[in-house]
Amino acid sequence: MTATGRREVVIGDGPAGGGSESEPTRTSLPDGSTAEDPSRPTRPVDPLSAPADEAEDAGLRPATLSEFIGQGQLTEHLHIVIEAARRRGQPVDHLLFAGPPGLGKTSLAGIVAAEMGVGLRITAGPVLVRAGDLAALLTDLQEGDVLFIDEIHRLHRAVEEILYPAMEDFKLDILIGKGPMARSIRLDLPRFTLVGATTRTGLVAGPLRDRFGFVGRLDLYDVAELEAIVVRSAGILGVSIDQAGAQRIAERSRGTPRIANRLLRRVRDYVEVRAEGRIDSESAIAGLEVFGVDRLGLDKVDRAILDVLCRRFAGRPVGLTTLAQCIGEEPHTIEDAYEPYLLQRGLLQRTARGRLAGRSAFEHLGLAPVEARLL
Ligand SMILES: Nc1ncnc2c1ncn2[C@@H]1O[C@H](COP(=O)(O)OP(=O)(O)OP(=O)(O)O)[C@@H](O)[C@H]1O
Ligand SMILES: [Mg+2]
Repeated sequence: MTATGRREVVIGDGPAGGGSESEPTRTSLPDGSTAEDPSRPTRPVDPLSAPADEAEDAGLRPATLSEFIGQGQLTEHLHIVIEAARRRGQPVDHLLFAGPPGLGKTSLAGIVAAEMGVGLRITAGPVLVRAGDLAALLTDLQEGDVLFIDEIHRLHRAVEEILYPAMEDFKLDILIGKGPMARSIRLDLPRFTLVGATTRTGLVAGPLRDRFGFVGRLDLYDVAELEAIVVRSAGILGVSIDQAGAQRIAERSRGTPRIANRLLRRVRDYVEVRAEGRIDSESAIAGLEVFGVDRLGLDKVDRAILDVLCRRFAGRPVGLTTLAQCIGEEPHTIEDAYEPYLLQRGLLQRTARGRLAGRSAFEHLGLAPVEARLL
């Protein structure tokens, strides 16, 4: 750290990036995220990206703003921001995209670069371990390029601090040498656009958030938008599908394009083997049933959770640990992977006394609501 409190990149002896100062290790992530937990089972309705999806997902990514379906207000604002920058002949302001996994944050970063006709460099918060890692990326940028940092809420403090002058003044502070001989120089960086993505806005440090000119929030998609996404993806994959078939898949996609695309691929596999390759309402439902996805997009663990709440505990509040033990999952897996959608659909409620089944959970399981049963 310099007298002015600026973080500098150390070039010379020893580890780069001020490695002499102790830094938190990557094993103690601030958000306790389980995104990279290899022990997690793969579910057809998981919003997180699985390695098996990645190759095919790449071909399905919208490449321009006009191909990007939904998020109307956000794309309109983005269109204005991009067009204004283009007319001024300047790079786009730094952008932060926030929202749940699988809604299109990475796709939007690619779109910004494509619309501006500039290069795109992609990295992620946890990958940048030392300040020098980011410095290497920054000095390699061309004028106007987009630097995309995924999971920006997981950046190291040391890395974050060299990002501030880079974002604000397009400068990089470098310390050359060591001890009394050390001297500091400031390098000019090309003007670039930083695009950050986060699933947890609350964890992005205030000073970092304030340096973005534009913060865009992505919301879950509605069924009509997901239907359009399924039809578009089917076209790219060369799968024959009718409107009703696309609607069945959309209804079960939990508001998430990544899940819609994954369910489409599962149903495609099913119809190739069982239904002469055509997806319609009937074959879509049959295919999704084979993969354990029901009409609300719930899988067997989701249903097991509701069953414990509605049937075994008859609508009484259940503690998270008890619930986890009943279905044989870790409590954090329930919180991160299962609860968000159940909460969003009102199937489950969190109360101070524990988890409670929502009224629609009883209906979904074909049970009478608990108030009626207790009378
Ligand atoms: N608006 C959209 N229109 C069409 N397809 C979309 C749209 N949004 C997302 N997709 C599809 O969903 C997939 C996942 O999107 P993307 O990787 O951009 O999500 P993400 O928000 O970056 O997810 P994560 O938080 O896990 O990084 C993409 O491969 C793309 O095919
Ligand atoms: Mg992404």
